[in-house]
Amino acid sequence: MAVIDVALAGRPYCVVIEEGVLGRLAQAAAPFLKGYAGGRAVPFVADANTHRIFAGRVDAALAEAGLAADWFVVEPGEDAKTWGVLERLCDWLLALGVTRSDHVFALGGGVVGDLVGFACAIAKRGVGFVQLPTTLLAQVDSSVGGKTAINTRAGKNLIGAFHQPALVLIDPLVLATLPDREMRAGYAEVLKYGLLGDAAFFAWLEAHGSKVLARESHALEHAIATSIAMKARIVAADERETLDKRALLNLGHTFGHALEAETGFSDRLLHGEAVALGMVLAARYSARRGEISAEDAERAARAIAAAGLPADLSGLGLACDGAALVQHMRHDKKAEGTTLPFLLLRSLGEAYVARDVDLADIAAFLDGELSR
Ligand code: GLY
Repeated sequence: MAVIDVALAGRPYCVVIEEGVLGRLAQAAAPFLKGYAGGRAVPFVADANTHRIFAGRVDAALAEAGLAADWFVVEPGEDAKTWGVLERLCDWLLALGVTRSDHVFALGGGVVGDLVGFACAIAKRGVGFVQLPTTLLAQVDSSVGGKTAINTRAGKNLIGAFHQPALVLIDPLVLATLPDREMRAGYAEVLKYGLLGDAAFFAWLEAHGSKVLARESHALEHAIATSIAMKARIVAADERETLDKRALLNLGHTFGHALEAETGFSDRLLHGEAVALGMVLAARYSARRGEISAEDAERAARAIAAAGLPADLSGLGLACDGAALVQHMRHDKKAEGTTLPFLLLRSLGEAYVARDVDLADIAAFLDGELSR
């Protein structure tokens, strides 16, 4: 078991990592359930998959404390992060009579967490919420940090708010039913923490990453706790991303977002897979600038490939050139000029924001990677 504090001034919260904690929800989240003791149902939001797999466990845990859940179930996938679903969710919360001292429970991956977090940010100008993440990606990344959002025609996550959860309960046992591909996609974000800020953790993952992917108890808990501890430190230091600290969490994301856009944000390339390949590209581009050695860049690529994640741009079979990928990056950042901030590496374990990157050079670099 590990408990990590997110030390935000005025609204600190805990992340609890504990096997089986979902089944002990009533005790673990007791302070946030007190308001429901009079017989009101506890609002829970899940997608159809997490509801099917975990609702029974949650209902039983609540029943032990004399409580009952009321479930709002959304379709699995990004389509739940829309104005329409947000409106229905807000109407449902208001019909339940939630108050600003209540807490809503989000059981699922990043989509459910983002949707519920944003609904809670705006309903009654701010209702509390508790994150119960059920994917590795949500457990090590999206359940902590307070960025909440929905997608619109203009792009992903463009309508949202900073709204921190009151508690995050991580049960590594729920990952037993996670498909292997999604486990690997979440693991990309774990590797990201090593690459961006912890060389010893990166080396540990090189040696023990297969145990994490196999969901071996100690290795998995260590990987989640180390990842969340770093995210908690960064978020506490730069909640609104106004310094160059929180931006480090975007390592691999600028390249990765271009790849997601080029593949239509589809199952062809999951977000974590795009981030994995984006980190290889960031490492190789850092080597091209002479900031790390070519050998270190290939060491990063080997760790990513060893996890069964894409580490080779030419292997994606894209029918585009480097300039088209750069155009996606410009569109993502709404930028017209010849440069963009890029997350690059000074070493394996130290990322930084480079503001002198020439996009023509990025396009030429990507042309080389596409035909590697
Ligand atoms: N909710 C994800 C983040 O704040 O980073």
